[in-house]
Amino acid sequence: MRKEKLRIAFIGCGQFCRSFVPLFKAHPAVEYVAACDKFRERAEDFRETYGMARVFDSFEDAITSDEVNSIAIFSQRDTHGRMAIEALKAGKHVYSAVPMALKIEEILEIVRLVRETGLTYMMGETGVYRPAAIFCRKKFASGEMGDMVYAEAQYNHDMKRLYHVFQYTEGDTWRKMAGLPPLFYPTHSTSMVLSAANTFATKVSAAGFRDKVDPDIFGAGMNYWDNPFSNSAMLLHLANGGAARISENRRIAWHFPETYISSFYGTRASYECSLLQHSYVKMDEKGFVEYTDVSDELNPVELTKHKSEPDYIKKAVNGAWGGGEAPIQAIGRLPKGFAGLGTGHAGTHQFMVDDFCQAYASGWLSPTNAWKAAQYNLPGLVAHQSALEGGILMDVPDVGNPPADWKTLSPDRAENVASYDE
Ligand SMILES: NC(=O)c1ccc[n+]([C@@H]2O[C@H](COP(=O)([O-])OP(=O)(O)OC[C@H]3O[C@@H](n4cnc5c(N)ncnc54)[C@H](O)[C@@H]3O)[C@@H](O)[C@H]2O)c1
Repeated sequence: MRKEKLRIAFIGCGQFCRSFVPLFKAHPAVEYVAACDKFRERAEDFRETYGMARVFDSFEDAITSDEVNSIAIFSQRDTHGRMAIEALKAGKHVYSAVPMALKIEEILEIVRLVRETGLTYMMGETGVYRPAAIFCRKKFASGEMGDMVYAEAQYNHDMKRLYHVFQYTEGDTWRKMAGLPPLFYPTHSTSMVLSAANTFATKVSAAGFRDKVDPDIFGAGMNYWDNPFSNSAMLLHLANGGAARISENRRIAWHFPETYISSFYGTRASYECSLLQHSYVKMDEKGFVEYTDVSDELNPVELTKHKSEPDYIKKAVNGAWGGGEAPIQAIGRLPKGFAGLGTGHAGTHQFMVDDFCQAYASGWLSPTNAWKAAQYNLPGLVAHQSALEGGILMDVPDVGNPPADWKTLSPDRAENVASYDE
């Protein structure tokens, strides 16, 4: 157990970070929070709004300061890899928003540094904590589903209504950032399937949809990556002998649910989701199947409350009542101080913050530690290249395992490992 409490500097006081500072501040393992942004006025605003201890002039100042022992990275997608590496080299623990990094070498370097230093690293990945991932993971781990055969997951995130999130920081050049290859941000989908099946991808092939609706965002010279694809799909060959299809769609006529497992098939039982209907089908010894509707366990409590209303589906597919927890999520293990502080992305925010703090305090690996995060992120980086080359089959780098004596926190635990005075 680590005795010292967390002293965190937040890098990137933008839109997403706002949902997290109050949670970190309220966590009993945290005693100090500081702010840092390229736009100083944003960091000053955070300091005033959330009562943060101070503002750092730069990322470099934050990671070299003795006042902090941890860095929480909430800057844009293309900065995470470099910042995590520099922070780990400076001896700081790291919480990073997704993705882990956009370059294979950076991911491998983060894994190497975590192994070498023993510092806590966690990628704040919502997918692992989503109800369908929890359900499939528990059923699969119990042995009830048999061997994992095939799964499908996707992140359908049509950007039409959301391009403004890039404009907030990127200004007039926002299109350059918005054209990120969808497969460079695959962890919402991959994490659900790979954590449920407790496996990783060994090979991948992919196909991309050459965009026709936003030619000023996708295409050669339009974005930092010369990326032509607004939607992409990849087929993962898994180490357990199964396969998975993962789709990352950014211009597709779909809003909610946005990140979900649509199927997870085993040799003895299977899960399927269609819109808001979650089904579990189990086969008995004689080959007859038993059907269970598990929708009320997996859909957010708020959503289920409205299910008999006439316009329920109409509102739900536009995101109504979708942000909060579902009964399957173990909110009982969260700190009491989180009550009423809000959450997001299907009730996952509070779990991510708690698990980083638990991992730090206990010294255990977080559920989305460097090895797991690498396994969730790497397939997409390789798959984008496959799509550019007509779908050739490519190897996914193998990051191996953490040291055998380094225990890992289960995201599904009902109890905490580290305890604090609350
Ligand atoms: N579901 C999810 O997990 C989810 C959802 C939204 C965003 N995100 C991730 O969160 C991150 C932030 O997204 P956002 O929408 O808040 O972006 P944003 O543009 O609103 O905020 C990013 C902030 O980082 C600051 N910044 C950039 N470089 C910096 C540096 N060197 N030093 C200090 N500050 C720096 C910017 O000035 C900006 O204020 C992104 O990487 C995104 O991938 C994840």
